[in-house]
Amino acid sequence: MKISVIGTGYVGLVTGTCLAETGNEVICVDIDKAKVEKMRNGEVPIYEPHLDVIFERNIKANRLRFTTSLEEGLDHGEIIFLALPTPEDEDGSADLSYVLNVSEEIGKKIKGYKVIVDKSTVPVGTAEKVQEIIAKNATCEFDVVSNPEFLREGFAVDDFLKPERIIVGSSSEKATDLMKKLYAPFVRSGNPIIVMDEKSAELTKYAANSFLATKITFMNEIANYCEKVGADVDLVRAGMGSDSRIGKRFLFPGIGYGGSCFPKDVKALRKAGKDRDYDFKILSSVIEINSAQKTILLPKIEEYFNNNLYGKTIAVWGLAFKPETDDIREAPSIDMMEGLLSKGAKLQVFDPEAIPNIQKRFGDKLIYAESMYAATENADALLICTEWSIFRTPDYEKLKKQLINPVVFDGRNLYNVNDMEAEGFTYVSVGRKSVNL
Ligand code: UDX
Repeated sequence: MKISVIGTGYVGLVTGTCLAETGNEVICVDIDKAKVEKMRNGEVPIYEPHLDVIFERNIKANRLRFTTSLEEGLDHGEIIFLALPTPEDEDGSADLSYVLNVSEEIGKKIKGYKVIVDKSTVPVGTAEKVQEIIAKNATCEFDVVSNPEFLREGFAVDDFLKPERIIVGSSSEKATDLMKKLYAPFVRSGNPIIVMDEKSAELTKYAANSFLATKITFMNEIANYCEKVGADVDLVRAGMGSDSRIGKRFLFPGIGYGGSCFPKDVKALRKAGKDRDYDFKILSSVIEINSAQKTILLPKIEEYFNNNLYGKTIAVWGLAFKPETDDIREAPSIDMMEGLLSKGAKLQVFDPEAIPNIQKRFGDKLIYAESMYAATENADALLICTEWSIFRTPDYEKLKKQLINPVVFDGRNLYNVNDMEAEGFTYVSVGRKSVNL
């Protein structure tokens, strides 16, 4: 099939590349000339595991092309994906200007039947708006479909190629059939393509992300309470997660969720509720709790240093909002580092992928280390903000030698508390007992 994807951010690029992988002819459109030029030269503009291999393969096979011309994109695809940014507005709602502006152009430019697919996370009622805007100018038949993505950064290629479900919000049989044909190769395993109305599809995305953010936040509260009563959240988690109604996943406590989706989507759903006089009390709590959770280790670090962090050097491992990505949007590391810097601490930081992005934000306020052990050299303590695999089995002896005192504040509960105690570390994590304090 002929496919166009408008917008080559994380979602657009993964969508375009993976759709080319099953033999479709894909054109990706972006207004950023430099980016398009780079992609034409085979350069993947983001870090996403496994994307480079299929990107290269499909460019070579001439199934994946790039252009800055919206017109070319609109002429080419029988299905046109909108994968445009929907950033958070000042009031927490999703800013739809990119989606709506492109829709206006689509109305003016399409010449034959097209299925326009909303891939971006958009509030309930957006498909309807897009439909109306295109209809103002369109001189041919078209359908608008809502097809939210559920891609996790770091696993986006796998999630796209082997989705647990595909949601298609459509009220046109013709468009639904085309979408089913397009996705058939991805659901051979029998996973469902769930067809519903556009509004329910739009809400499914917000509901799923808000539920997951709530699940994590609930666990963070249980972890905080564990500390009060001397319970161990690891054990509570294992006990709870074995109930299949609860499930083992997304129960890991820590210094809060971040990223480009959860924070934005939870706020957007709450705002959308407000606009309809519906008060999502649970989401307000989630936002408030998560914001506090991001700096939950800060007072503990201050207390350890007798409320005087001035001139202390803290090593920070992990800056990305989660492992396997260079994305630092809403990363808890940012709140932690800003807090520590404001108290006069010096920070020696390391992350396997996110340093360039952090550098753009913090400039020369941080000392950027070449390796995890370069970060801990002569530091007064180590703080862990992201659970990259490389941090899971450190050389304890080396670490002890490098740190001025063997002190670890762990925002992701990477180590066994008893092991750390036996190794002689002062170890403070989330929802578990602190040792050698
Ligand atoms: C999320 C959704 O999972 C995906 O379906 C959606 O389309 C986009 O948003 P992503 O933002 O890539 O994906 O990250 P995810 O792996 O879901 O993690 C989100 C945040 O929750 C991270 O900050 C992570 O550290 C945190 N998290 C996750 C926890 O704190 N505990 C957990 O148990 C799981």
